[in-house]
Amino acid sequence: GTTAMAQSSRFAFAPIAAQTDYDVHVPEDYEWGVLVRWGDPLFSDAAEFDAAQGGDPATADRVFGENTDGMELYEIDGAQVIAVNHEYVNETINLPNAPAESGSVVNSEEDATKLMMLQGVTVMEVRDGATGWEVVVDSPYNRRITHQTPMTLSGPAAGTPLMQTVADPSGTEVKGTLNNCGAGRTLWGTYLTCEENFNGYFGSTDPEVEITEGWARYGIGAESRYAYEQYDSRFDISVDPNEPNRHGWIVEIDPSDAQSVPVKHTALGRFKHENAAMVQAADGRIVVYMGDDERGEFLYRFVSNGVWEEGTNGSALLEDGTLSVARFTEDGTGEWLPLTPERTGMEMAEMLVHARMAGSAVGATTMDRPEWVAVNPVAAEAYCALTNNSRREAGATNAGGDAMEPAGPNPRPTNEYGQIVRWRPEGGDHGADTFAWDLFVMAGNPQVYDNEYGGSPNVTPGNMFNSPDGMQFSSDGLLWIQTDGDDSNEGDFAGMGNNQMLVGDPETGEIARFLTGPNGSEVTGLTWSADRTTAFVGIQHPGGSWPGEDGMPPRSSVIWVRRNDGQPIG
Ligand code: FEO
Ligand code: CA
Ligand code: CA
Ligand code: CA
Repeated sequence: GTTAMAQSSRFAFAPIAAQTDYDVHVPEDYEWGVLVRWGDPLFSDAAEFDAAQGGDPATADRVFGENTDGMELYEIDGAQVIAVNHEYVNETINLPNAPAESGSVVNSEEDATKLMMLQGVTVMEVRDGATGWEVVVDSPYNRRITHQTPMTLSGPAAGTPLMQTVADPSGTEVKGTLNNCGAGRTLWGTYLTCEENFNGYFGSTDPEVEITEGWARYGIGAESRYAYEQYDSRFDISVDPNEPNRHGWIVEIDPSDAQSVPVKHTALGRFKHENAAMVQAADGRIVVYMGDDERGEFLYRFVSNGVWEEGTNGSALLEDGTLSVARFTEDGTGEWLPLTPERTGMEMAEMLVHARMAGSAVGATTMDRPEWVAVNPVAAEAYCALTNNSRREAGATNAGGDAMEPAGPNPRPTNEYGQIVRWRPEGGDHGADTFAWDLFVMAGNPQVYDNEYGGSPNVTPGNMFNSPDGMQFSSDGLLWIQTDGDDSNEGDFAGMGNNQMLVGDPETGEIARFLTGPNGSEVTGLTWSADRTTAFVGIQHPGGSWPGEDGMPPRSSVIWVRRNDGQPIG
């Protein structure tokens, strides 16, 4: 039972039961509160949240944005500063007065602009105030980065013809970062924001536009989700066919300088980036692990050519290195396959812009939607959440035509629950080209199934969950797991309740439920206060009216969680 598990483990809490309500739950002897909600002012010149309008359009880039996701906290000259993503929008909530007669609720340039301003990244100073953690309004660190913020392109693809557009013939300057999903932190104190489903922002005013192979591989077509192309031609692929090549990257932001220009690093490859987990190789080179969240896409690793010296700015190291894709073998071993012009038959810029096609060319293993990667700080191993894959079965293929047979770390057809793969690099060196792998957990429902869909032995009726997604290690070497799955609590998902955050012990395999989100929400994004006594957790797209009262729209928020006795929780 779960009580015995708590007593025998390193977990400093009694695991909680599954929940189905519209609230947040944490263990006994812990408390939580809201740090910031979508629409809360970051600057005193922003209007207070206005439910009737879904927030004031004129100051949408002066408030905390929508759909909080990956985040990291930085201690800068004594201030605590959080950088946090705003992945996408909830159009019908953000534009409550928009007539829904067309396919899109976006019916004017003002609507599209408001949505552009609500997405991207927030940088904000926070402090532990009289009634819990709060944003320091008007702090000089506060900043909103949106779909219109100027940034630069770095690395081998920058300035090449593939990156040149109507507005930017140089191919080196781009506006905006799109669909910022997971995150990462560099060893030199900057933030990495990761562009995921950027395809949804592009469309064509010419419905007859011919969809290229490159567009098709990334899901870019004539139909967009947000109708931006109706109001801004750079999102119109029939007018500016190279603009989509300038999105789908890892973007570096300096949280210590609100005037700094973000950099999109093309050496790390273009795909639907989940997050970026950085670690140092034995010889000092920089290693970045990255997932591409799509059915049958790949797991990637970047290794810099240069070495990083403690105390230096390593940004230039992300401009020059080798990108590889993972191949997993049935015998529990695997290797990193370098993407080079020789091996892929593609020129360098083409290879980075169309990294998925390069991965197919070298025989990468198709995965069950690689979400977050987390690196254990106290053992030479890394983990990737493979969230689910409704289409994995014999004869199925990904968009590039690569087989999705059930095999290796993706063993189940019609994988509705997901799993977490772990790899240990050869010699304990993340720069090594081979590794051993196993599954840390295979999620499942042991109350419904007594076969492989019941999950691995560390899944019990007391801790079951589906669709692992966000992951972070705490400094004590525990793996925190956040879910983004089916929260119907019915059928194959009966007993799992709402999306949640659990913690796993890499040494024993034990997993315990720590937090549950409101129904309708995904729990995503996790970071800690400088002294590790507070965990900040993101609640994305909640249902009901959370965290407000009846009649208010639901508002994605970052919450704080801490122990009543003030001891560290990470
Ligand atoms: Fe934005 Fe794959 O999660
Ligand atoms: Ca995610
Ligand atoms: Ca997900
Ligand atoms: Ca999400």
